Amino acid sequence: MTETYGEAKIPSVTPETFWDQDEEFRELVLNLIKIHVVSEEYGADCFEASILRAPTPEMKMRMAKTVMEEYGHHLRFRALLDELGLDWRDFTRGKDHLTTFDVPIESWTDQVVFLALVDRAAAHQFRHFVKSPYEPFRKACQDTLNEEYGHVGLGMDGVKALLETAEGRRQVEAAIPKWLKVGLASFGANKSRSNARYRYWGIKSDTNENMRDAYYRQVRGFVTRDWGIDMPDEPEPFMDLLPGSDAQASVAAG
Ligand SMILES: [Fe+2]
Ligand SMILES: [Fe+2]
Repeated sequence: MTETYGEAKIPSVTPETFWDQDEEFRELVLNLIKIHVVSEEYGADCFEASILRAPTPEMKMRMAKTVMEEYGHHLRFRALLDELGLDWRDFTRGKDHLTTFDVPIESWTDQVVFLALVDRAAAHQFRHFVKSPYEPFRKACQDTLNEEYGHVGLGMDGVKALLETAEGRRQVEAAIPKWLKVGLASFGANKSRSNARYRYWGIKSDTNENMRDAYYRQVRGFVTRDWGIDMPDEPEPFMDLLPGSDAQASVAAG
């Protein structure tokens, strides 16, 4: 039996069969690719200053590798447009980067807490995309996800080092709400119509609310247990950046 995807139960889609698919499916997939082409490059630009902010040569090297991989994500998603015969510059013109990057990264503490919390949120979303119907997108997301785990790891190691001093701990405590809000908002609006359509087409396999909830539980687990910092049982105090509608895309790039 051939594998099918989503409630629509469509078979795996290749570049050859892409243009034969339903228009809604094509638009949802192309929009996700477009968001990544624009936001991965913008995010890499935002991360670049953190190479010199890193406290040790080892951390500088790992941050430089992270920046390199973020530009690589941009190129990887761009290649998906090339494969479909779309000119990436024309196709992404006027497309805004994700609002994730509108909150400025101002210090090394910001950078490592961002990686530990916001890149983690991106990884949660990529875990859905790696099971989606369009084969080249699936593969690009799997390769990206593997690298995102490394970025999250750098964030966790960086935070652990900061927690060794009282000043570092104070900075981490102050940075958690700032980035947790961004991470939680990246899952998109509750009761989202676009999420329902993503699920229909098998691009996502859960609701925004459930994904956000699973993410919060995971973050709360290691922040309270491993970082020794208290967090409320429920995410509500950190939900003020949440989009009220589908206006903001429910995807994260990190
Ligand atoms: Fe990325
Ligand atoms: Fe990343």
